[in-house]
Amino acid sequence: MITTATVYPCSVRDAMAHWPTGLAVVTTADRDGWWWGFTAHGVSHVSDRPPMVSVCLDRDARCRPVFTAVDAFAVHVLRAGQETLASRFADGSADDFDGIAVECGFEDVPLLSDVALRLECRPAGAVPAGDHVLLLGEVVRARTGPHEPLIYLDNGVRRLARPDRAA
Ligand SMILES: Cc1cc2nc3c(=O)[nH]c(=O)nc-3n(C[C@H](O)[C@H](O)[C@H](O)COP(=O)(O)O)c2cc1C
Repeated sequence: MITTATVYPCSVRDAMAHWPTGLAVVTTADRDGWWWGFTAHGVSHVSDRPPMVSVCLDRDARCRPVFTAVDAFAVHVLRAGQETLASRFADGSADDFDGIAVECGFEDVPLLSDVALRLECRPAGAVPAGDHVLLLGEVVRARTGPHEPLIYLDNGVRRLARPDRAA
């Protein structure tokens, strides 16, 4: 027999900290041309045909109304060595892009270079999901780099341990 137990929100959050993910910076440009970005570990592959990904965005994030209204966004999976980009885009300041090399992509979305994976997306829906919104994106352009991605696990940012690099 299957029984249900009370599930406390914090226990699910703690349990999911055991699920390793990558770490991404999601960017866009609003209708006035201002650039926006936030750090996200809640990124998933959703579909192959059409190619789609999802990004989990906090409903209370300042950038939420922007990301649910734009015509394009980009997901940058960070590589080892880009830990400071993750902190920079998580602190909600206005000068996230200061001093960073940026190219303009699909629909003028600011693109970060030299990342492990870059996906340029056309929005395919925003699905309310509890205290978050799932941004669905159809991938219009994908580019991979030669670098190892950063890993987010146990509420911390890590690099892959490579046995061939052990001391
Ligand atoms: C390691 C890490 C992972 C994060 N993952 C997410 C995420 O998946 N979704 C999200 O909405 N916020 C996530 N955040 C928090 C946002 O990056 C942060 O709240 C955002 O910069 C706030 O944006 P705002 O200034 O528009 O409110 C994460 C932060 C860190 C440090």
